Formats: sequence, C-alpha cells, structure tokens
Amino acid sequence: MTEKDLLKKEVEKRRTFAIISHPDAGKTTLTEKLLLYSGMLTTAGMVKGRKGRKAAASDWMAMEQERGISITSSAMQFSYKDVIINVLDTPGHEDFSEDTYRTLTAADCAIMVIDASKGVEKQTLKLFEVCRLREIPVLTFINKMDLYGRNPIDLMSEVENVLKIDSYAMNWPIGSGKEFQGIVDRRKKQCQFFLRTPKSGSQKTDIFTYPLDSAETKSKLSEMEYKELLEEIELLELAGNSFSIKDFLAGKVTPVFFASALINFGVEFFFDAFIHLAPCPHKRKANLIDGMEIEIDPVKDPFSGYVFKLQANMDKRHRDSTAFIRICSGRFEKDLVVKNTRLKKQIRLSRPHGMLAGQRTTIEIGYPGDIIGVINPSFFSIGDTISLSGNFNFKPLPQFQPELFARIQPKDVGKRKAFDKGVHQLIEEGAIQMLKTDQGDLIFAAVGQLQFEVMQYRLKDEYKVETIFTPLSYKCSAWILGDIKTFKKSTTSRLVKDRHDHPMVIFDSTFDKQYTIDKNPDHRFVDVLF
Ligand code: G4P
Repeated sequence: MTEKDLLKKEVEKRRTFAIISHPDAGKTTLTEKLLLYSGMLTTAGMVKGRKGRKAAASDWMAMEQERGISITSSAMQFSYKDVIINVLDTPGHEDFSEDTYRTLTAADCAIMVIDASKGVEKQTLKLFEVCRLREIPVLTFINKMDLYGRNPIDLMSEVENVLKIDSYAMNWPIGSGKEFQGIVDRRKKQCQFFLRTPKSGSQKTDIFTYPLDSAETKSKLSEMEYKELLEEIELLELAGNSFSIKDFLAGKVTPVFFASALINFGVEFFFDAFIHLAPCPHKRKANLIDGMEIEIDPVKDPFSGYVFKLQANMDKRHRDSTAFIRICSGRFEKDLVVKNTRLKKQIRLSRPHGMLAGQRTTIEIGYPGDIIGVINPSFFSIGDTISLSGNFNFKPLPQFQPELFARIQPKDVGKRKAFDKGVHQLIEEGAIQMLKTDQGDLIFAAVGQLQFEVMQYRLKDEYKVETIFTPLSYKCSAWILGDIKTFKKSTTSRLVKDRHDHPMVIFDSTFDKQYTIDKNPDHRFVDVLF
C-alpha cells in the first residue's frame, strides 16, 4: 500500500461533525450515548455539567473543569464500530458564543437534535442557517419520544417549513410517550422493539427485530395500533419525499430519526445510519494569494488546515493560548513545520494535543478531519490558514450579527493602557467584537453573554484591570451594504462601524430592524458577514 492509499483509508474512516440544538433538547445526553455505544463509557449518566452548568465566571479554570468532557477541548476523538469519530463541541446555554458558530465551520456534517414536544427552536434555527451557508449536510434527531410530544408528521412539516429543507423519515416511531416501544426501519421493512427496564438508558438497550408483516410484530400491537402503523408507513411511501445520499449531501433533504436518547430507544439505529450517511472529509474551497479559486483535496494535497478557535489559559501556568486547527488535507506529524499564509512565517507545530478516549493526549499523527490543539505564542489568529506551501487561504470564517451590547471600561482610569492592550488581544482572538460610534465611543458586542464574562475575567486575570460593565439595550444588528449617505435611520437605531470599518446598524428590537430594512429598499442588510 502506498502512502496515499493509507491516507485515503484514514480519511474514509473519519466522521467529523457537530451536534446542534436548542438548550435542553438533549445534545449532552445524545453525546453521552454515543460514548456508551462506542464503549468509552460503561454506564451512562456520568457526563458532568448538565445541572449546575451555571458556573461563576470568576473562575475560568473551574468553569472548564466543572463543565466536564465536552468543554475541556474543542473536539473529542474515539472510534465507533470501524469509523473514527471527531465530535466537535458547539456549546449552547450560557456557553454560547461566536466560537459556537466558528467551530461549526470545522464540521463535515451536523446532527440537529429537536425536542419532540417543542419542535424547531430559536437557537437550532440559527445554527442550521450556518450549516446552510457553509453547505454542511444535516441529520435530524427527534428526541424525547418517550414523552408525549407532538405528532411526528407535524414535526416533519415544521422542519420543512421553518428550515426550508425536505425531510425524509428513516425510521418511524411505534407509539409515543409511555407507549413508545419501538421503531420501524423503513428501508428494511423491519420493526425494532425495545425492552424497557429500570436500567434503560444507563446501558445498551436490548433490541428485538421482526419483519413488519410478521406474526411477532402483530402480537406486540393491538389490531388497531398495527393497522394505524401500516397506514402511516404507507402514507410516507405515497406522499413523503424521496431520499438520496446525493440530495442529503447537497443540503436538499434531511434524514429524520425518531428516538429517545434518555432511554436508548432508536439510538443504535441512529448511530449505525449516521456512520453510513455522514460524509468523510472532502475537498474544501480556498483562494491562492492572487485570488484564484482552488480546491484542496484531503488526500492529494499535502498538509493544510485552519485555525477555527483560540482558547486562552487552558493551562494556568502558561499565558499562551491554544489554537485549535482543523486538518483539511495531508498527514500531520508532531513537530511539522508549516507556513501561516497571513504572516508568511514558518511555524513548528510542537506539543500538539487532542482529546482521545476522554483524555488529553499528545498527538503524534493526525489526518484530515482531525482537530489538533497547539500552543499559540501569538502566531495564530482566528481563521488563519496553515499549509506547507503557505500560498493559499481557506474560505474566511464568517462573522455573525451580535445580539448583546455593552460598555466596558476600566474601573481605574490609570489602567487605560493595560485595558487597551488586553482588549486589542481579545479582539484579535475573536473573543469579542468592538464597534465604534461616529463620536468615537466604543461599544462591545457579542452573540453570547459568556463572551462578556470571559472578557472581564481575562482582563482582570491577565492584564490586572478591573472593569465596569454597563449593558446596553440594543437587541440585534446588521451589516449594511450600499451608500451610507442615503441610509435612513430610525429614531432608536444607531449607526456604528465594526473593527474593519464596515458600517453596521444596531437596533433595540427586531421590529425596529424590520422597519429600518423596509425603509431602505436600496440597501442590503446582512446578519452574517463573509
Ligand atoms: P442539552 O445538552 O441539549 O442542553 O440537553 P441535555 O442532554 O442536558 O438534556 C436536557 C434534559 O432533557 C435533561 O434533563 C435530560 O435528562 C433530558 N432528556 C434528554 N433526552 C431525553 C429523552 O430522550 N427523554 C426524556 N424524557 N428526557 C430527555 P434534566 O432534568 O435537565 O437533567 P438530568 O437531571 O436528567 O441530568
């Protein structure tokens, strides 16, 4: 076998993905079950950080420790059956930040977890939009079928109408709530029945599989239930969408799975389908320095990757931050010397680490799809491309509309210099956005509250500057494209500039935003800037 053949084999084995959901839909529970079914946990119910997730921002390290395995790193690697899983951490709740969006760009596909009683919620919608923009295919996991939720057909229609994507049920639930007892595998025309025991959830669930038209299946259901089930399956065949992997990868259709992550019903079916459907690392678009568009092939091209996240102070003894790099092509080896296109500088990637089998480990070798963390003594900024040639850049990371705004000032005016230095560093890292008004006032902006907490904590911890935080009442924003001189502002909105001097408008309500958009038909307003 040649080196390229070996590389191809490694690439084909990898599934790098993120789980997106609204808080409480069950992302943590599903991740935990993936660990259970892959043999990394012997008993589920051990992952920390669900309850009591609200940690004091005053203790950054404790915050990380308390939030357990999904927080200590940007990605976790382990094997499930014969594939290698890289699951990216896309925090929700109060951990939600611009990092969540940026991390999503490092995924090759996403699992969208939806609570069956709630349907498509706000944060899911936002994250789904990022997937659409980045052409990331999405699988839908409709969770909590063990509780009485909404009708499965309704839920699928909601996915279609709200997210503007076709849906295709890969399985169909047999009963719901207390009567949720199995699923129909539509492709094989088989039923999987589950045995509910007091241990359901903490261990793998026993499955009993029978053909849909078998005597065993009929014996498990009343005549009425069986008849209804057949009617539903027939309806799906006649009136439902069709499914092809090609359409799924093109983002035209999302395969839907009904399950309960808590009691492990339908979970194994989902994981098995997932490793089959989810794509392995593929070509990524890039631009040569002269602007020419090229594609970087994971197998044919030598090592390349990009920085999607910087995290400061993971090790309190060092001031350095950690840069998380998604490998896009070629084989990575410890101590590899690469070029950062932006700095035109050579960098040795020493002390690379990752999360393997739940432990922080040194990475000796990595392949496309893998995430490596490297110590960053200010060599990297968010979005930097690194490669052997140093002559191209991957697509820039998008910037997202901030929804939280505040003034942050040093308590002691004598600390202004240290404050400015710290702020500059945080902005470089992409930890916070800074907006400027016409009068030269500074407004700090974020997509998640945690960003402000981290900013204040790091200014105090690393730059010894205590700050005064004053929240502002603005609720949303947009970048504005067009002639700024003809822009008609509403009374409460405010025109500002971002750090690259792109004009933006900040609004105190979504209503005001819509009103302003309507009043300015010759201007374009964008929520995500590429
Ligand atoms: P998140 O990461 O998306 O925020 O959600 P998480 O997994 O933490 O789940 C949120 C709550 O929903 C948890 O309950 C969890 O046990 C519950 N849950 C997750 N999946 C299912 C499911 O399939 N069925 C049912 N009935 N519940 C589910 P909690 O009370 O907030 O926490 P805990 O005390 O159970 O840890």
